[in-house]
Amino acid sequence: MPRKPQTTKKAYVSKKPDNSGFIHYTSEENATWHDLITRQVPLLPNRACTPWIEAMNEMNFPEDRVPQLEDVSRVLTEHTGWSVVGVPALIGFTEFFQLLANRQFPVATFIRTREDFDYIQEPDIFHEVFGHTPPLTDHRFSAFCEAYGKAGLAADSKDHFMLARLFWFTVEFGMVRTDEGIRAYGSGIMSSPGELLYAVESDIPQRKPFDAVDVLRTPYRIDIFQPIYFVIEGFDQLFDLAQSDLLGHIKEARRLGMHQPTYEAA
Ligand SMILES: [Fe+2]
Repeated sequence: MPRKPQTTKKAYVSKKPDNSGFIHYTSEENATWHDLITRQVPLLPNRACTPWIEAMNEMNFPEDRVPQLEDVSRVLTEHTGWSVVGVPALIGFTEFFQLLANRQFPVATFIRTREDFDYIQEPDIFHEVFGHTPPLTDHRFSAFCEAYGKAGLAADSKDHFMLARLFWFTVEFGMVRTDEGIRAYGSGIMSSPGELLYAVESDIPQRKPFDAVDVLRTPYRIDIFQPIYFVIEGFDQLFDLAQSDLLGHIKEARRLGMHQPTYEAA
């Protein structure tokens, strides 16, 4: 989703495909993917929700190289008609909403350097592909993303920041109640070993039942472990949300007013 530009460090630039659509990664970049995915997958059981793990198995990501977008799209298209499309690291709200409304998930194609191995503020291809694409094979989750994009196109630009919160607390940092306990499904948690353990096991964060209007009123910071997670009851709840009046929820959130941050200002 749209991010604030980095001002203090070098900017990452997405890699462009060649004429045949193939994106070339160096052996060092492929080794980085290998080390990221082989570190993350063993951490998933009992922390990621089971449908997410099953979806990841469907994606069948390679371990030895960065996956090609074409291969990722093939699996998504078979399941839900979605695809991924390469974009620069930063895109505007309108383009972001337009892509989601068209069932296309925007993906920055660069991979982090070793210097940023444990934490990267920008979304790199490990976050985008490993973190985001598995649940897009689920028709309920993907229907929510499509409805979200359509609502974004219909919304007034002054309300975009609230829609960003809705995406943040679901697709990026969502958690779900299961019979075994609260588990994660959001991409920002799935692509971070530290936040996966913290989100599921730490006593520090609040875990609130998901309520769309409450989410729209809740600010967040992108560069800290989240102080609040919203917990859905299952992907059915996202599907129901997709059928609901998202712009009406925004109106109600405005009427009630915004919550104060629970964190220190950046
Ligand atoms: Fe993301």
